[in-house]
Amino acid sequence: MKPKILVTREVFDETLEYLAAHCQVESNQKDVPFGPGELARRLADKDGLMCCLTDRVDANLLAGSPQLKVVANIAVGYNNIDLGACSARGVMATNTPGVLDDSTADFAWTLMLGAARRLTELERRVRNGEWTSWRLKQWLGVDVHHATLGIFGMGRIGQAIARRAAGFDMKVIYHNRNRVAPEIEQRLNATYASKEDLLRQADFVVLQMPYSPETHHMIGAAELKRMKPSAVLINSTRGGVVDDAALIAALKAGTIRAAGLDVFENEPKLNPGFLELDNVVLAPHVGSSTEATRRAMAMTAAKNLVAVLTGAMPPNPLNPEARRR
Ligand code: DGY
Repeated sequence: MKPKILVTREVFDETLEYLAAHCQVESNQKDVPFGPGELARRLADKDGLMCCLTDRVDANLLAGSPQLKVVANIAVGYNNIDLGACSARGVMATNTPGVLDDSTADFAWTLMLGAARRLTELERRVRNGEWTSWRLKQWLGVDVHHATLGIFGMGRIGQAIARRAAGFDMKVIYHNRNRVAPEIEQRLNATYASKEDLLRQADFVVLQMPYSPETHHMIGAAELKRMKPSAVLINSTRGGVVDDAALIAALKAGTIRAAGLDVFENEPKLNPGFLELDNVVLAPHVGSSTEATRRAMAMTAAKNLVAVLTGAMPPNPLNPEARRR
């Protein structure tokens, strides 16, 4: 008998085919998210779960699924999963590192350039017929080239963002829980800075650290005040790292110049304050969303899931200690 699995959202055909070769698949190809009750009911008799950041995997859910052996998240971030609860039940959790670094870094740069040059605001103005003549002082932006880029979170994606800065002749500073190896600093031409120095010096502050209770509201009113009034804030990691209400107040007051955001507290609900502002570029959590990358993420998650269900160590375990005997 093949193991039973639940796939909580629509995935690509090749992913389903691969999964079906190894498992009995129940898949939500309609793509309407399951509520917590429905998720629990469908998962009750399953051996594996393939899920994404919109599914909360906590102790309650796990308690109702005694056969569950693996939770394969289709994402590199895993703040939707209670890892401690998984380990306590011998459930292996996995994620999809590596395959999305470059696409996510490209998108952080899309937000940086878009916010610096006011792209979405100006596109709106063109569409509204407000462009009546060329003017010398018209809709001025700020330069990205030769500016100082400050990156919070120098993991794989942070490093991919830093690599791209060389083409813009930028100075790169970063802050991370741990300093990266000297060879990496040298290769990226990046200098370690304290949180305070980074906020004070950077023209572009990019947030790319993982979300956790420790990083909740890491950027709030006090941090925004420390930034330059000309600075641009980019959040390409997770909502909740930024206090959205404080950011809206800072953008309104001119405490900082602009922001580019792919993620929000309580997304997909948006704090309506953002919609009134011209100096913010808003995107719907699409940092990794290119066709090739999303296909690679889904297949990586599927391979992790099948590995666990066939008794192997998965390529991307988050809690290897959970391996069942
Ligand atoms: C991730 O992988 O964590 C992204 O946020 C989902 O695209």
